[in-house]
Amino acid sequence: MKERGITVARKKIALIGAGNIGGTMAHLCLLKGLGDVVLYDVIDGLPQGKALDLLQSGPIENFDGKCLGTTQYEDIAGADVCIVTAGIARKPGMSRDDLLGTNAKILGQVGEGIKKYAPDSLVIVITNPLDAMVTLMKRVTGFPKNRVVGQSGILDSSRYRTFVAQELNVSVSSVAALVLGGHGDDMVPVRSSCLISGVPVEKLIPAKRLDEIEARVRNAGGEIVALLKTGSAYYSPASAAVRMAEAYLFDKKEILPCAALLEGEYGVNGYYFCVPVMIGAGGVEKIIDIHLSATDKKAFDESLNHVKDIVQSMDRILGVA
Ligand code: APR
Repeated sequence: MKERGITVARKKIALIGAGNIGGTMAHLCLLKGLGDVVLYDVIDGLPQGKALDLLQSGPIENFDGKCLGTTQYEDIAGADVCIVTAGIARKPGMSRDDLLGTNAKILGQVGEGIKKYAPDSLVIVITNPLDAMVTLMKRVTGFPKNRVVGQSGILDSSRYRTFVAQELNVSVSSVAALVLGGHGDDMVPVRSSCLISGVPVEKLIPAKRLDEIEARVRNAGGEIVALLKTGSAYYSPASAAVRMAEAYLFDKKEILPCAALLEGEYGVNGYYFCVPVMIGAGGVEKIIDIHLSATDKKAFDESLNHVKDIVQSMDRILGVA
């Protein structure tokens, strides 16, 4: 069976939003051979142009995956995974929360499109403010909670790993880290979970310096926005979401920090919040409930209050409060 040149023998990955992150994810999916890619956007010409450009790198990179650029939702039909970046990105001086009104309207439309054309897909949301946008996606699609998940903690943890590896001049692959909570400036880097090949980071970096590193992790997205001036980070968010898609498509049962709907875990009920989850063929197959120290729990609760506020603001904007 064929749909406009896209075979269904391969997995089908629909990228909703063909901007900086969408285009980068398309490239990564094709390079990694994850499947055929559909790039959807509302700007006619943008997804088509990027798709053609990407396809023409295939013979050089030796991939056969197809890439279709489109402005029609029908083309995402039957997608295995939908990754959503549709919306606007931050400019200098803006917080992720400042994107709320515009992106909530966009995510509502996107959710309807996914519900209609890719009803069996795993939906990974990247659009900010992430915790509110993934909540809205779950509501609009009505998909079960294991199939709607937000990308946040893989990126935030990767930022922690990057800075610690730089500080110690060791390979990033030797550094494990975990950042939980909301995807905002009050995210929670869990210091006790940062290990350098099993050695606690606190034994290698003084506490005061770790405070500075963690502050930089919290503001890492803003640091990039200030430098770029016209948009926000895209290589690293793209890598993070593609890692989630890969875990799902290959049933890797990988433990990754992601924004998942909590229903009692961590004492949280009815909110998306970043915690370690297991991703496999069933989507979010399990939520891993780890013990948090009193200090981490306090930070976790403060971050949760912020997520509750942003969801409330969204509900006011959408007129459902
Ligand atoms: N449907 C599909 N795409 C849309 C829609 C819509 N209704 N509205 C806007 N878009 C598209 C834009 O046309 C643009 O091409 O979304 C794309 C967003 O791309 P960029 O502006 O390059 O933003 P990007 O850096 O990819 O970030 C997207 O992810 O990390 C978050 O904060 C970031 O919310 C932002 C999102």
